[in-house]
Amino acid sequence: MHLKKLIDFRSDTVTLPSKEMLQNIQNATLGDDVYGEDGAVSELQDYTAKLLGKEAALFFPSGTQSNLTAILSHCQRGDEVLIGKSYHTNVYEARGASVLGGVGICPIETSDSGSMNIEDMLDQIKDDDPHYAVTKLLCLENTFSGRVQPQSELDELAKAAHSNNLKVHLDGARLFNAHIHSGLTMKQLTKSFDSVSICLSKGLGSPVGSLLVADKPTINRAHRLRKMLGGGMRQVGVIASCGMYALENNIQRLQVDHDNAKLLASGLASIEELSIEFSESQTNMVFVNCPDSHRVGLEKFLFEKEIIVSNLERGRLVCHLGIEEKDILFVIDTFKDYFK
Ligand SMILES: Cc1ncc(COP(=O)(O)O)c(C=O)c1O
Repeated sequence: MHLKKLIDFRSDTVTLPSKEMLQNIQNATLGDDVYGEDGAVSELQDYTAKLLGKEAALFFPSGTQSNLTAILSHCQRGDEVLIGKSYHTNVYEARGASVLGGVGICPIETSDSGSMNIEDMLDQIKDDDPHYAVTKLLCLENTFSGRVQPQSELDELAKAAHSNNLKVHLDGARLFNAHIHSGLTMKQLTKSFDSVSICLSKGLGSPVGSLLVADKPTINRAHRLRKMLGGGMRQVGVIASCGMYALENNIQRLQVDHDNAKLLASGLASIEELSIEFSESQTNMVFVNCPDSHRVGLEKFLFEKEIIVSNLERGRLVCHLGIEEKDILFVIDTFKDYFK
């Protein structure tokens, strides 16, 4: 059966591995990673730790498990973590840190573009008083909704947290997009943080996988916690080798996704009925607001042309390696056809 290629804007997680990526599996040195014997996993962990300028790295099946493990590595039961109110770790990770680790979550207001005010953060660090939980950790996110957080602001937040004896974790699920947009090295982007989680299964196009990087003692604690969470995997070089391919081949090409997102944003901005959030798309995401009266009709019209969007209430359109420039031009024309 011949399946037509869908233009799927729901997320950069929908990409399929390329032939070359799959070929990497054939050449991978496999072993039982619970015994520390999978060569492909060890290679990926060492490579990532070096790339991000930290002592050690640990491979995870998902960003959610990597973030959760990071929080549990830094906090004990009864401790508290400060997290941006709209950040993924606060909203979309099922409160795993509280449910499984007994760690309280204190959400901090953030702006639409994801920045956290330093005073708001400092206000929530609790005094050493038996009435309060012990504030142990600050969790930040970069990129947030496709926005690259100003590095000086992140560094200042981390510095302020550190001077109050907090550790700082960064959810860097799309940190490679920040690297491409800002021109900062991965080491510059991670320097201020005690631990960083990155995802291989988003813009980098790997089917599965995330890594946590930190110093050795933190990764040693994370290793035990990962086992406890059921994340110890066996011949997992099968997927780690895809991740290695992604790191070696798919970082620079993120610029293509960023260019496509800019093209899409400017094309859709020319349609009177639509409004685009943020003056300029920075990475691979475009947010489009569509009037209620058109939403269902437009989604259906797009779907008939094999274009998938998640919903157009605050429509997030995500560009990725499965979408080419010619697709973007077709999509802009299709939107225009609908409103003609
Ligand atoms: C910012 C951010 N952090 C973490 C995650 C969690 O990653 P995973 O879906 O691999 O659990 C996601 C997933 O979309 C994300 O967007």
